[in-house]
Amino acid sequence: MNAEQLIDTRSAFDSVADAYDGPLGNNSLVQAVRARTLAEVRRRVPPGATLLDLGCGTGLDAAALAQEGYRVTAIDWSPEMVRRTQDRATRTGLERTLAVHHLGIHELDRLAIDDFDAAYSDLGSLNCVPDLAVAAPAIGGRLRPGGMLIASVIGRVCPWELALFTVKRQGSQARRRAANGPVPVPLNGRTVWTSYYSPAEFRSAFERSGFTFRSLRSLGLLAPPPYMEAFALRHPRAVAMLQGLEDRVAGWPGLRGWGDHFLIVMQCHD
Ligand SMILES: C[S@@+](CC[C@H](N)C(=O)[O-])C[C@H]1O[C@@H](n2cnc3c(N)ncnc32)[C@H](O)[C@@H]1O
Repeated sequence: MNAEQLIDTRSAFDSVADAYDGPLGNNSLVQAVRARTLAEVRRRVPPGATLLDLGCGTGLDAAALAQEGYRVTAIDWSPEMVRRTQDRATRTGLERTLAVHHLGIHELDRLAIDDFDAAYSDLGSLNCVPDLAVAAPAIGGRLRPGGMLIASVIGRVCPWELALFTVKRQGSQARRRAANGPVPVPLNGRTVWTSYYSPAEFRSAFERSGFTFRSLRSLGLLAPPPYMEAFALRHPRAVAMLQGLEDRVAGWPGLRGWGDHFLIVMQCHD
């Protein structure tokens, strides 16, 4: 990913920051992903711990965790997203437990703090970094020995999407996630350059940087992907049923690597 693509991505997210807390970035299907990522953070790290939010968006996760007693440092590449996270921290009186910085994940070496108990990244921010092989050691360098990375990452095989694009005869769209390297994904008339990863690719980038694999589950395997909110609103009971079923099978070998996203936990070496 080159500098121009990074600027495209930043301007795309800047342009949606205002609407992000609504149906675009926080509809019921997004909330389901968010809830599961946050639950994994809570399961892995006790309140009071220091957390690094990688690509915080408008700070919905960061504020929720800061409210629960975590000490959160949130970074994002989009100044408009960062401004909203900062506003949220001020509005909710969380300035002491939620620090916000305008910083790309690819600029992590500029962050002074380097002993976080855990880092987390929700809803694909790590799919936007220029080079995961560079980001992985940079993230490891910000964690204390034994620190965790908990990330929901956009995967390569989304059954819903494959079915949808096949029915619509949009073959090139169906193959989009198979590409190596960044792919232009439209957002609000602009472009988010997105790199798709299988869990194995993601895992090996972090293993090469001294992380150990801890767990993996699928997100959006049976439940529809976040952009199918209209379908979810029309069929709430079916979606709730699919979500319940998904929670039961999401960690099964053979299924856990599929889905719109996957939720992976990696641990830094002691
Ligand atoms: C889909 S949003 C997810 C935001 C947030 N994690 C959430 O759960 O709502 C992706 C976020 O990644 C940010 N982002 C994109 N590229 C980035 C980069 N290179 N470094 C840091 N943040 C980045 C975007 O600005 C955007 O806020």
